Amino acid sequence: DLLLPDRLLTALREARHVTVFTGAGVSAESGVPTFRDAHTGLWARFDPAALATPEAFAADPALVWGWYEWRRARVMRAAPNPAHRAIAALARHVPALSVITQNVDDLHERAGSTGVAHLHGRLMQPRCSVCGQPWRYPPGMPDEPAAGRRVTPPDCPRCAGPIRPGVVWFGEPLPADEWQRAMAATAGCDLFITVGTSALVYPAAQLPQVAAEQGARVLQLNPQPTALDTIADWNLLGPAGTLLPALVHAAFGEAFPD
Ligand code: APR
Repeated sequence: DLLLPDRLLTALREARHVTVFTGAGVSAESGVPTFRDAHTGLWARFDPAALATPEAFAADPALVWGWYEWRRARVMRAAPNPAHRAIAALARHVPALSVITQNVDDLHERAGSTGVAHLHGRLMQPRCSVCGQPWRYPPGMPDEPAAGRRVTPPDCPRCAGPIRPGVVWFGEPLPADEWQRAMAATAGCDLFITVGTSALVYPAAQLPQVAAEQGARVLQLNPQPTALDTIADWNLLGPAGTLLPALVHAAFGEAFPD
């Protein structure tokens, strides 16, 4: 086992309510790209203004829909990694566990986590851009369009408007119910674990601060320094897929097959 601080293990074992807050880094070892990692990050390769704003979708729906179809195909071909599985397992060892994610993939759910608050929406839940009616993807694995290939979005069966990705774009409000649940889980926890986020995008990035201000202990897992280094009580520098299973094993004895 990694040398984990005893006070951290005690805090985890004695916690009444643990809240886990994840960013793209928790899915990195599943092969799903992050946004801001050098070279491999999506924003190092694509322009968010051209792909992740309401204006971009209005200007070129096929370019935006095609890019999210490329991301969806990659997520559907990915598997939850040991970090997702350790978070799902944690729910069996602590009295109350809340999972808040900025990610739009469904890897937490596929690892067994339930009640996940998705602050930035869900890739697998597109909806009509006009009437808002949810739209369901046809069954089966989509062929993986080349990144950047235009794919015309389907028409809404109810109003014929273009279907849009079920994600929150820059400039759009977060889903109010998800935000409320996230704030409640942050205000009520005694241990807040932030995993794989650069903590640069607000309002999501304020949650660790809210946790610290209400008196929760804050644990950060990330291979790089982030803006959260100064508020975390513990900073474990490394990949989530290694650190989270080690933490759950050290605290509760549950081992994870790779
Ligand atoms: N394990 C843990 N963390 C990792 C790993 C890993 N294996 N690999 C990379 N990371 C870390 C990086 O060091 C970085 O700090 O994950 C973080 C990913 O940061 P971002 O790419 O900025 O992703 P995120 O913080 O989730 O972005 C927030 O920005 O573009 C918007 O809506 C998008 O939800 C996203 C939001």
